[in-house]
Amino acid sequence: MQVELTVNGQRRSDDVEPRLLLVHYLREVCGLRAANVGCDTTSCGACTVLLNGTSVKSCTVLTVQAAGQQVTTAEGLAADGELHPVQAAFRQEHGLQCGFCTPGMVMAAVGLLAENPDPTEAEVREGLEGNFCRCTGYHNIVRAVLAAAAGTSAAAGESAGIVSGEPAEVGR
Ligand code: FES
Ligand code: FES
Repeated sequence: MQVELTVNGQRRSDDVEPRLLLVHYLREVCGLRAANVGCDTTSCGACTVLLNGTSVKSCTVLTVQAAGQQVTTAEGLAADGELHPVQAAFRQEHGLQCGFCTPGMVMAAVGLLAENPDPTEAEVREGLEGNFCRCTGYHNIVRAVLAAAAGTSAAAGESAGIVSGEPAEVGR
């Protein structure tokens, strides 16, 4: 099927299998490797992206369901060489270790803050409960989201590493 959609601000038209999952479309057709596949069963959140500004698990969305819509991955967050405030906050608060969960976690946090710009700690923890992290114990992640909400994350000034959506070795 021919599908037309916008990915990170760029309009695309691709011929895809009707059963192709959005995460596989992003990784294999678009070459965007930030969204990772951790489970394929809607459990881990590693594949989280924004669909029209709302966070979704892209292993649970067919590419054809995204037709005509705006998809944003972690690669699409930074602008003019500056990390997105949520990315900068993850970097500042050391909200990552191995980085496998990080792009999905950042996208879930961006979606959460779009819905609730001033969340409590409990609301952050509840809002991210669909995203698993096996490394950090979540404390620094929660701190990062609260820092981003408070506007206290330092401007990063450069795109660097996993928080900017560059792929980790794992999950490639
Ligand atoms: S790969 Fe999509 S939720 Fe785990
Ligand atoms: S930083 Fe390793 S899984 Fe979250």
